[in-house]
Amino acid sequence: MSVINDEAGTVDPTVEPSRDGLMDVIWEQQRFHEHRRWSAVEFLGAVDTRSLGENDRTYVWNFGRAELTTKPGADRLARLSDSECRKWVGKDDVLASVLQACGTWSRYWNEEEAHHESVLTHLSRMLSCEPIRDDVVIRYREIFGDDDMLRTLFLLAISEINATVFYTSMASKVKDEGLRARALVDSGKYSPRSVLAVAHLFVRPGGELYGSARDRVEDRRHINWWDHLEFKGAERPDDHDRQRKLIFAFVEDVTSIAVNSAEEVEDRWLEMVG
Ligand SMILES: [Fe+2]
Repeated sequence: MSVINDEAGTVDPTVEPSRDGLMDVIWEQQRFHEHRRWSAVEFLGAVDTRSLGENDRTYVWNFGRAELTTKPGADRLARLSDSECRKWVGKDDVLASVLQACGTWSRYWNEEEAHHESVLTHLSRMLSCEPIRDDVVIRYREIFGDDDMLRTLFLLAISEINATVFYTSMASKVKDEGLRARALVDSGKYSPRSVLAVAHLFVRPGGELYGSARDRVEDRRHINWWDHLEFKGAERPDDHDRQRKLIFAFVEDVTSIAVNSAEEVEDRWLEMVG
């Protein structure tokens, strides 16, 4: 081990360790995680609640509730990555390592999401918004059932795109997905069809992208946070054009298939379904 570099075995953190495959990736994840650490307690300490208006309260309350669903997302990613990893051990060891790295990443993602949830839900309490009852927390925490790994990754990434657009759009009025879906497509073991199917689910007319703005929101077992936003009088922070563009760019990143409209997503998807 190159990091132990004197007779007493003292560890010198400045010495580059040898390249070790999965352990090397995990170290990079740890470094990245430490690099972007921040404190929810300090963040809230700097907020002047008197400067926040009624619309701000509505946004904070909605997104505090939405963030409750990120823990089951990351928990699901951890469980699914490990079971998928075990499927490929001995058959495609590189893919097995990618999946294990993905499962390991879920612990940092979960920890980061804990900050988002805590900041928004606690701020919502500081602002005396409608309390989030225990039964709501329990309902929002339910873990989705198992699905194809690539579909799961792509759905979680689109959910993050939606959150990014909402947050930046809200910030103008008052996340790196961290998910290596590309490696799954490159392995040849996961079909890009899954990516197009999930993209289509979101961008089709009346699709998931339009969330609670749709005339009819499906009744389903699990909570999709975008179905449950209640903006009351506040302006919706949607920017469907930007959301679609980011989704199209992400489809191309992962599959190398260029798409520029909801119709093209549908066409490419139908061609693959055959
Ligand atoms: Fe978040």
